[in-house]
Amino acid sequence: MRSFLRKREVKDMAGIHPQENSYVIDKESATEMARLIDLDVMITRAMGGHFPPEIDLSKIHSILDVGCGPGGWATEVAFAHRDKQIVGVDISHAMLQYAREHARIQGLRNVAFRVMDATEKLDFPDESFDMVNARFMVSFMWKGAWTQFIQECKRITRPGGIIRLTDTDVPGVGSTNSAALDKLSVIMTRVYFITGRSFCQDEFGNHFGLTPMLSGFLKEAGYTNIRETPFMLNYSVGKPGYLGNTRNLEIAFLLLQQFLSKPGIATKEEIEQLNQQIQIDMRNKDFRGIWPFMSVIAQKPT
Ligand SMILES: C[S@@+](CC[C@H](N)C(=O)[O-])C[C@H]1O[C@@H](n2cnc3c(N)ncnc32)[C@H](O)[C@@H]1O
Repeated sequence: MRSFLRKREVKDMAGIHPQENSYVIDKESATEMARLIDLDVMITRAMGGHFPPEIDLSKIHSILDVGCGPGGWATEVAFAHRDKQIVGVDISHAMLQYAREHARIQGLRNVAFRVMDATEKLDFPDESFDMVNARFMVSFMWKGAWTQFIQECKRITRPGGIIRLTDTDVPGVGSTNSAALDKLSVIMTRVYFITGRSFCQDEFGNHFGLTPMLSGFLKEAGYTNIRETPFMLNYSVGKPGYLGNTRNLEIAFLLLQQFLSKPGIATKEEIEQLNQQIQIDMRNKDFRGIWPFMSVIAQKPT
């Protein structure tokens, strides 16, 4: 059970780029799509709404949502702001099919969805959008892909436009009083490190080190007016985030089983046992958990 804590000879998985899908979960999975529909609602609520209060919405007419999943954020924004044009891009055909149908039954004409790989050049002309939004890209981005992605965002944003990146260093988990949840979180951060996704300097570090990097990437790319806003989701028993995030984690770790067992840090059986213990721990009346994440907003100079 404790084998993942020992230093092992592990295969360097960074070499899987770019032939394999980089998303940590099967991108066409219906179960994953259902998880993301709920995750969007929970996280948007925890962030206090669709947009940060400091953005002047009267200047935002066209918005791109990168890695939009089943399109929850893009569709809700299109519904609430009929004067704005929203485009969502994602690598999953299944999720975009759902997103299009969901928008169609609401009669929305101001939202569109396109299949696109965000680790490649973005297929939009220069200065196409007033705002680029991207949330939880850590789930598919290679360490080396961030610089080009941010350059691409800058290219397709009009002068004076906004970028907002929201991400986490500890997907879904954070700090808890469940040893099993913490162990699985450590396995995940190690697998991220080995597969070339983590900015953490230590293979055994228990975070990805991404959020401290984001403002630096934006500054290097020439963005100005950079602001960081921390968020947290308290999913302890009795808190509003409890039901949503315990369910999110149960499903996520089930779907992550293959990704987590691949590099040989922990076996499928070890992960399964931890999953079973997590389900027991999260149902304990004393369960505590806080998941931190962060938004960075910046402006393309005029
Ligand atoms: C964790 S989900 C986040 C969904 C949404 N942004 C949210 O916050 O609710 C990550 C999304 O990125 C998509 N994705 C994975 N690899 C991608 C890639 N290379 N390019 C674009 N999207 C990708 C997945 O299909 C999934 O919908």
